[in-house]
Amino acid sequence: MKCFQDKTVLVTGAASGMGKALTVRLTHLGAHVVATDVNDDGLLRLADDCAGSAGSLRAQRLDVTDKVAFTDLVEELAADGLDYLFNNAGIGIVKEVKDTTDEEWQRTMAVNQQGVLNGTLAAYDVMRRQGSGHIVNTASIAGLMPAPMLTAYAMTKHAVLGLSLSLREEAKVYGVKVSAVCPGIVETNIVGADQMQRLQLDGDDPFEFIRRKAHIKPITADQAAEYILKGVEKNQPEIVFPLHGRMAVASFRNMRKVWEVAVAGGLKVMRNEG
Ligand SMILES: NC(=O)c1ccc[n+]([C@@H]2O[C@H](COP(=O)([O-])OP(=O)(O)OC[C@H]3O[C@@H](n4cnc5c(N)ncnc54)[C@H](O)[C@@H]3O)[C@@H](O)[C@H]2O)c1
Repeated sequence: MKCFQDKTVLVTGAASGMGKALTVRLTHLGAHVVATDVNDDGLLRLADDCAGSAGSLRAQRLDVTDKVAFTDLVEELAADGLDYLFNNAGIGIVKEVKDTTDEEWQRTMAVNQQGVLNGTLAAYDVMRRQGSGHIVNTASIAGLMPAPMLTAYAMTKHAVLGLSLSLREEAKVYGVKVSAVCPGIVETNIVGADQMQRLQLDGDDPFEFIRRKAHIKPITADQAAEYILKGVEKNQPEIVFPLHGRMAVASFRNMRKVWEVAVAGGLKVMRNEG
């Protein structure tokens, strides 16, 4: 993948999961990666994973909800050119709407929606001036279809798709590319330790339940990063992966009744009624 060699890349949420896997892969492809997160320990550990790579790593704390800090960093990078922004940071709260607190709605919107908007607007300014660049916003298959029990999350991911796909068309005339990443189930830390404990499904943690009882194989963050970078290289509008993710979206669109029955079964288990 030559398109990342010697390029300047900003990644948010780089201390864990897909952001970390993207950072490691990109540095090994010869990119100069500015890896950001709110997890300072995770950022420190990145240096080992990127050691010996053809590119370079700069790890820096950035909370994506801090518009001023995000804009300042993007403008600083603009001095030498910013080629890619991976707006990857995100959080997921698994709860029914009736149990979701106001703080959880606000936090989900702040990180997943406003955080992506903060980065997009800052990078779009810079990239328009440059006449080049690629903004890669991580949404989810939950941005292409409903995700009951993850409604706040789904709302923000639909917003990310709306932003990204609309801007993509506007941005063409300025030489700027925009893509939306829509992963299916990737085994990362997104569920978090607290939720993993709370969410025992038939006695399993969520990823184990998905694997053993739903017969869906979550992919690794590293596999996800490979899909993402291939999609970015091809400048795909929506990068939807893996097969289980594409099938979920297709069944929602084309076999709605089947999809509804499957979802109802899943909801029963999540409510401990199954
Ligand atoms: N894991 C999945 O199954 C899945 C599926 C679809 C989409 N996604 C999306 O992929 C992206 C990456 O998630 P992941 O699964 O790798 O999760 P992860 O929890 O492993 O990584 C997310 C990272 O974002 C960071 N982060 C959280 N809030 C932040 C903030 N305010 N500012 C900066 N960084 C912050 C976290 O510290 C963490 O390092 C997210 O946008 C997520 O919604 C995940």
